[in-house]
Amino acid sequence: MNTTFPEGFLWGGALAANQVEGAWREDGKGISTSDMQPNGIFGEVVARREGEHSIKDVAIDFYHRYPEDIALFAEMGFTCLRISIAWTRLFPQGDEEEPNEAGLAWYDKLFDELLRHNIQPLVTLSHYEMPWGLVENYGGWGNRQVITFFERYARCVFTRYRHKVKLWLTFNEINMSLHAPLTGVGLRAGCSQAEIYQAIHHQLVASGLAVKACRELIPDARIGNMLLGGLTYPLTCKPADVFATLQDNRRWQFFGDVQCRGAYPGYMRRYFRENHIDLEITPQDREALGHTVDFISFSYYMTGCVTADAGLVEKLRGNILDMVPNPHLESSEWGWQIDPIGLRTLLNILWDRYQKPLFIVENGLGAQDKPDRDGRIHDDYRISYLNDHLVQVREAIEDGVEVMGYTSWGPIDLISASKAEVNKRYGFIYVDLQQDGSGTLSRSRKESFYWYQKIIASRGALL
Ligand code: BG6
Repeated sequence: MNTTFPEGFLWGGALAANQVEGAWREDGKGISTSDMQPNGIFGEVVARREGEHSIKDVAIDFYHRYPEDIALFAEMGFTCLRISIAWTRLFPQGDEEEPNEAGLAWYDKLFDELLRHNIQPLVTLSHYEMPWGLVENYGGWGNRQVITFFERYARCVFTRYRHKVKLWLTFNEINMSLHAPLTGVGLRAGCSQAEIYQAIHHQLVASGLAVKACRELIPDARIGNMLLGGLTYPLTCKPADVFATLQDNRRWQFFGDVQCRGAYPGYMRRYFRENHIDLEITPQDREALGHTVDFISFSYYMTGCVTADAGLVEKLRGNILDMVPNPHLESSEWGWQIDPIGLRTLLNILWDRYQKPLFIVENGLGAQDKPDRDGRIHDDYRISYLNDHLVQVREAIEDGVEVMGYTSWGPIDLISASKAEVNKRYGFIYVDLQQDGSGTLSRSRKESFYWYQKIIASRGALL
C-alpha cells in the first residue's frame, strides 16, 4: 500500500465568485471589473447596457444552487472549499462607509452550509475583480485611496466571519497584474510599467494591512498570499539561458519575496532603477509590508521554458504567459503544458526559499467533456492529470516540504477566466450549460467524481 498523506491535510476544490455565482445584480451587488469584461480577463472592456447578457451574469448559478453543490462536495469527502468574496456584494461602488447587509448575509448562509458539512472555508478576499466604481472614480489601484477602501472591506469581513472562517488569502495570483492589469490592479489599457508597479505596490501594502487586521481580529486564523506558480526552465544549458530563467522566475517570486520577507528585494530595486521606475514608498508603507503572511498558496497548471535568444522567443512563443514551449512535454487542448514533476520542483523551491507552509489552491485540467449516449462523462484524461500531480505532491511531502492541502481548480464546471469559455471544463461535476447560455444548469457526476472520492477516503493511498 502506498503512503498516505498526513492527517489533517486538507482536500477539496477551489472556486471564484465571478466564475460561479451569477446573480450579478441581485441583493444590491455592484458592477465589478469582471462584469465589465464579458470576454474574460484578457478581453476588452464592454459597456453593459440593459438587455445585453454576459455568460457570467448567471454563470452556473451557484448563488442559488450552492446547497446542492456543497452536498456534492461533501459526498466526495471534501474537508475544504476555497471560495472568494465578491467585494461588490458588500461595497457595491467600493467607497461606501457601510457594507450592504444583504451581501454579508448571503456569505453567512454559504459558510453555515459548508460548516454543516464539516467543510472548512478558505476565503480569497479578492479574486480577479474589484468594484468598477473604484476604477472609474479613482483610477483603480493606481490611487492610494483604494488601499483604505480595501482595508475597510477586509476588516468588515474579518469581523463578520471571525467565528466561521479561519483560513484566508489576500489577492488571487497577485503576479498576474503584470499580464492583465485591469483584472489585477484596475488599470486601463495603455498604462505604463511605472504605473503598473506603483499600483502593485499599493496592492502589496493593502495585502500587508489585511494580514495585520486578520491577526488583530481573528488571532487563531491563518492568512496567506496567492501566487501564480509560473515556474520556467532554461530552454538549453547555455549560461545565458540559465540566467535569463533566473530573472524570469523572479517576475513571480518578487511578489512572494515581498509578502514573505516584508521588503523589496535587491534585484527589483535594480530593475526599477534601470527602467526609470521611481516608486512612491512612504514609511507607513514599509511598516505595512512588514506584516508577512503565515503561509504561501499558489496555483499550478503548467511550466514553460526561457531562452535568452529574442528571435527564438518570437518564433516559438506559445501560450498566454509568453513562455517558450518545452519540447519534452505534452499540452492540453488549450496549449497548457502538462508537467507533474514541475509541481514537486516548485513545492521544493518555495519551501527552500521561504520555509513557510504551502497550500496548492489551484491545479486542474481544462478540457472539453463529451457526454456519451447515456449522458455520462468518462474523463479519464482528467483523472490521469490530477493523479500524476498528486503523486508529485506526495513526493514533495516525502522530501520534507510542509504542505497544508490541495484544492483542485473548478471541482464543478464553471466559466473560465481567460476567455469566459464554458466548454473549458475543469469539474468533477458536469454542469449542463452551453456558451450561448442554453442548458438546464443541472449537475451530474463525472467519472472523476468517484475517483476523487476514493482518493480522499484513502488519504491518497489509492493514487
Ligand atoms: C487561474 C485563476 O489563473 O487559473 C482562475 O485563478 C482561472 O480564476 C484558472 O479560472 C484557470 O484559467 P482558465 O482561463 O482556464 O479559467
